[in-house]
Amino acid sequence: MGKDTVTLIDNRTGKQYELAVKDGTINAMDLRQAKVDAEDFGLMAYDPAFMNTANCRSAITFIDGDKGILRYRGYPIEELAEENNFLEVAWLLLKGELPTKDEYNVWKSDITHHTMVHESVKKFVDGFQYDAHPMGIFLSTIGALSTFYPEAKHVDDPANRKHQILRLIGKVPTIAAYAYRHRMGLPYVMPDNDLYYTGNFMNMLFKMAELKYEVNPTIERALDILFILHADHEQNCSTTAMRGIGSSRVDPYSALAGAAAALYGPLHGGANEAVLHMLKEIGTMSAIPSFIEKVKKGEGRLMGFGHRIYKSYDPRAKILKEMAHRVFAITGRNPLLDMALELEKIALSDEYFIKRKLYPNVDFYSGLIYQSLKFPVDMFPVLFAIPRTVGWLAQWEEMLVDPEQKIARPRQIYTGSGARHLPKFEKKESAKA
Ligand code: ACO
Repeated sequence: MGKDTVTLIDNRTGKQYELAVKDGTINAMDLRQAKVDAEDFGLMAYDPAFMNTANCRSAITFIDGDKGILRYRGYPIEELAEENNFLEVAWLLLKGELPTKDEYNVWKSDITHHTMVHESVKKFVDGFQYDAHPMGIFLSTIGALSTFYPEAKHVDDPANRKHQILRLIGKVPTIAAYAYRHRMGLPYVMPDNDLYYTGNFMNMLFKMAELKYEVNPTIERALDILFILHADHEQNCSTTAMRGIGSSRVDPYSALAGAAAALYGPLHGGANEAVLHMLKEIGTMSAIPSFIEKVKKGEGRLMGFGHRIYKSYDPRAKILKEMAHRVFAITGRNPLLDMALELEKIALSDEYFIKRKLYPNVDFYSGLIYQSLKFPVDMFPVLFAIPRTVGWLAQWEEMLVDPEQKIARPRQIYTGSGARHLPKFEKKESAKA
């Protein structure tokens, strides 16, 4: 067995350094000792987009991108999606273990009792344009919640954190539903405490004149599984935003608004929306080969394909592909499914995609299912943000209590001008004062 070190030879000085290797990483700060002279700041690592930099230690989610493995707290995502409900998985992500029966009952009741929002929140949502994108409404309203709960800034108090976590998990479906109702020009629906989390969300979205909303259990379960699959995905773009913003010790509502903004982008949680637009744009089966050719020429991307971490089939996409058939048995087959399947078939046998290890990701099929469940396309990123709230909060709390963490503050390589002075010219009259 060799030593757990790597040797760095600095050819600039001829000096040699032994850098400790722990958990397959070197500590970037150890590079600093390599200096050309006493004045030198020391060697840094350059890693735009964090392609090869671990930003934290985390015990929450494990991904093996080459093997297509995703586990929450050690449990395979396939087993959780089969055996558990979203609220149990939420507890698991936050606490590390699945809840006991008693813990679950208290947890479910606590969350249910945090689903209502202040009446002023409704007025706030009312203030948006009639055609405002629901994700824009969602993330702004989440940020605005910090003004309703100013005590949330005491982020180092565990009891306070617990309270805000309950509030956020309880309220995100309500705010999401209100964003949808506003978009549709429909009155807001109060939460129904008799219903389970996803059933109540459907009630707040779809209830019309009936006295009590009847939840279809198969659709409710499908939505719950979608929520489980989207709950966490380790250090993705939005989670990194949550940790980064939260590292300034701001309240969780403000940090979560920033994370939701990161999720909104078409390369992240906005991709499911982009997949639907892409399928509509392609239009017919016969247009698929020419679309693929365009993608291969670099004129656009095959949305819902490719992933920074997965270099094989995204395990979530596998579960969703099967689920799509079960949902369509109730809702009727989504005509875009055939196009999606054909795109996948062609892409998976094409050298361009094989060479780059581009496989369907979670967004490739989720959009088709959401659409069949009657969600407008612009609600898709919001549907992603509801369950991901749990992951963001679990990661935020883990970051706050981690003694190795500090305020996030990367370095840069300055590429601008050297020091220079303003040109001498006659001062303007207004600047003389
Ligand atoms: N379609 C066509 N080509 C692609 C695609 C795609 N969807 N994704 C990557 N490529 C190509 C790139 O052009 C590049 O080719 P090159 O080496 O010839 O230049 C190569 O594959 C590597 O791509 P990168 O952009 O370097 O990969 P990166 O890891 O930075 O990007 C990302 C990952 C953003 C997910 C990318 O695959 C993509 O844009 N996919 C489409 C959007 C999408 O579906 N996003 C959802 C991701 S899942 C989630 O966020 C929940």
